[in-house]
Amino acid sequence: MILGVPKEIKNNENRVAMTPAGVMELVKFGHTVYIQKDAGFNSGFADAEFTAAGATILETIEEVYEKAEMIVKVKEPIASEYGLIKKDQLVFTYFHFASSEPLTHAMIKSGAVCLAYETVEKVDRSLPLLIPMSEVAGRMAIQEGAKYLEKPQKGKGVLLGGVPGVPSGKVLILGGGIVGTQAAKMAAGLGARVVIMDISLNRLRQLSDIMPANVTTILSNEYNIKEAIKEADLVVGAVLIPGAKAPHLITRDMLKLMKPGTVVVDVAVDQGGCIETCKPTTHEDPVFVIDEVVHYCVANMPGAVPYTSTLALTNATLPYVLQLANKGWKRACTENEELKKGLNVVNGAVVYKGVADAWNLTLSELEDQFI
Ligand SMILES: NC(=O)c1ccc[n+]([C@@H]2O[C@H](COP(=O)([O-])OP(=O)(O)OC[C@H]3O[C@@H](n4cnc5c(N)ncnc54)[C@H](O)[C@@H]3O)[C@@H](O)[C@H]2O)c1
Repeated sequence: MILGVPKEIKNNENRVAMTPAGVMELVKFGHTVYIQKDAGFNSGFADAEFTAAGATILETIEEVYEKAEMIVKVKEPIASEYGLIKKDQLVFTYFHFASSEPLTHAMIKSGAVCLAYETVEKVDRSLPLLIPMSEVAGRMAIQEGAKYLEKPQKGKGVLLGGVPGVPSGKVLILGGGIVGTQAAKMAAGLGARVVIMDISLNRLRQLSDIMPANVTTILSNEYNIKEAIKEADLVVGAVLIPGAKAPHLITRDMLKLMKPGTVVVDVAVDQGGCIETCKPTTHEDPVFVIDEVVHYCVANMPGAVPYTSTLALTNATLPYVLQLANKGWKRACTENEELKKGLNVVNGAVVYKGVADAWNLTLSELEDQFI
């Protein structure tokens, strides 16, 4: 198959959808890989590394879309790319159709086959192409929180690890899923005193078994949260209710219970945030202060560490890319239910219920697309 990897042009997107290691694997199977010039530059991969692995560099984005049977990307296509996508072309990327009506209509019109990273789903209902980004964001939450706890950054002036003779800082993590677990590991590693709250007792049991002694698990409820925020130096928001907005576990009124200079890192900001006062910020201007509480609410945290994020993402996507390239999308999706769940829009038909519901469109029978 002929694969094309364009340079990401969405504002502040520095990741690339394929590494030289991925190119090498695809070329081994006899596939042709075109990479747009400088596509990997911001993630630390030079064109020469792609060429050495067997790829061909193309100057322009137009050439990449024109030559490729399958496009592998990171972010959803933006308006200037809509017209470049061809009928029957396979596009494998994050789409998040339910948050963009123009994108949905443009992809229907294109007649392309749109396979969305975010809806590829395993039998246990986990989302293998979202997990790596949650792992990055969870670990980053502590790094960013520790930074903004410094006095010059408007924080309390607390060193999370403490020093001999001085107690370590207190970290409260709301939600013990992927983000929460990774945040807890990082905070515990720094020597902080960590509390993880979740509504799932089973999850808390698992965490209690695997976490070190400086991590305590507590059931998430209003009473326990109110008590914990009085003491916390850093609060990480990491809850998720699939398909719904995040619940406001810390309301505006509750900020008064927190000590001045406390930092909240609301990772769940992309689902509305679990702290009522959270609103999305960017890496250029990541924090704001309300009631003397420092809020960090960057909606694309992994974007700040593109080298790590690119490797984490491509580690997870490559096995699927190989299946699609080796078998073509119809056979790959027939033989692998996980991939089949990623099909959102196929040859002008919406085949994913969440997308049809979001924009009041007719849901077509997915099986009809395989005939
Ligand atoms: N800002 C970013 O850059 C970024 C990056 C990656 C992920 N995220 C977001 O982070 C959030 C968490 O993602 P995840 O992968 O860890 O999800 P996850 O499903 O693995 O974990 C969510 C956890 O929240 C728990 N939960 C639900 N309601 C709760 C409540 N009332 N109190 C306490 N816990 C509760 C669930 O039981 C679950 O264990 C999501 O909104 C995700 O989109 C943001």
